[in-house]
Amino acid sequence: MSTTPGPTPPFPATGRRVLVSGASRGLGRALARAFADNGDRVAVHFGSREQEARATLDSLAGDGHVLVGGDLSDPAGAKDVADRSADALGGIDVLVNNAAVNLPHPPATTSYEDWSALWQRHVTVNLLATANLSHLAAHRMADQGTGGRIVNIGSRGAFRGEPDHPAYGATKAAVHALGQSLAVALAPQGIAVASVAPGFFATERVAHRLGGAEGAAIRAQSPFGRAGTAEEIAAAVLWLASPLAEWASGAVLDLNGASHLRT
Ligand SMILES: NC(=O)c1ccc[n+]([C@@H]2O[C@H](COP(=O)([O-])OP(=O)(O)OC[C@H]3O[C@@H](n4cnc5c(N)ncnc54)[C@H](OP(=O)(O)O)[C@@H]3O)[C@@H](O)[C@H]2O)c1
Repeated sequence: MSTTPGPTPPFPATGRRVLVSGASRGLGRALARAFADNGDRVAVHFGSREQEARATLDSLAGDGHVLVGGDLSDPAGAKDVADRSADALGGIDVLVNNAAVNLPHPPATTSYEDWSALWQRHVTVNLLATANLSHLAAHRMADQGTGGRIVNIGSRGAFRGEPDHPAYGATKAAVHALGQSLAVALAPQGIAVASVAPGFFATERVAHRLGGAEGAAIRAQSPFGRAGTAEEIAAAVLWLASPLAEWASGAVLDLNGASHLRT
C-alpha cells in the first residue's frame, strides 16, 4: 500500500465492485440486493450455505454478480475469499463486513470448555475476519488508486450488554473500535470506514425468537413496538458506502428504533 496520499478520483455512486461477507441469507442477502438495485456488482460470499447463497445471487438485479464461498475463520480463508472476489469483479470498491456468529454462552451455566471455545469462535469470525478482510480490501483499494468504502456490521449489544452472549457483545464493540482506527488510518487513501450498530431486526437466524415466547418483549424494546427489518439496515449501509458519506467516516451509526439511547 502506498503511504503517500495522492488525489483519488471522485468515488462513484454506482457500478461499484462490492464484497458482502455472509450473504447467504438474512442481512447479507438484503445488502446484496440493495447494492445490486443500486447498479453495483456484488460478490455474494457464503460460509456453509451454498444453496441459500445461490438463491441470493439468482435474486439480484443486473449482471456481473459472483458467488464466492469460503470459511473466514482463518487468515488464509479470508485471503482466498478477498482474492477470488477481486479477481472475479476486477477489483474491490466496497467491503461490507457482515459475516458473524452469535451463539449463547451464559456465564453462569456454560462449562469452561464451552466458554473458551465459544470465545475463540466469536473472536475469530466476528473480529479477526473483519480485520483481515479490511486489510485485504484496503490494500486492493489503495493499489487501484480508487479510494473505497468499508462498512462494518456492529451491534447495539456493544453498548447495551449481551448477558447471554458476552463474547458477541465484546467482539462487536471491538469491531466498532477497529472501524474508528481504520477510518483515521485509511482516510489518506480516500477510504472511508464506518460501522452500523443495529438493534434487533428480523432475519431467519432470529425468527424463532421473534415468533416465540420472548417475541412480544423483543418488539416492546422499541417504542415503535416492532423489530427492525434487514432492508432498513441495508439502506443505511448503502448510504454509508455512497460518495457523500465520506464525511461519515469513523461513525458508529445507531439503528435501533430508539430502543437504546446512548450518550
Ligand atoms: N439479526 C439481528 O437482530 C442483528 C442485530 C444486530 C447485529 N446483527 C448483525 O447483522 C449481521 C447479519 O446477521 P443475520 O441475522 O443476517 O445473521 P446470519 O443469518 O446468521 O448470517 C451470518 C452470515 O455469516 C456467515 N458466516 C458465519 N460464520 C462464518 C465463517 N466462519 N466463515 C464464513 N462465513 C461465515 C454465514 O454464512 P453461512 O450461513 O453460509 O455459513 C451467514 O451468511 C451479523 O453481523 C450480526 O451480528 C444482527
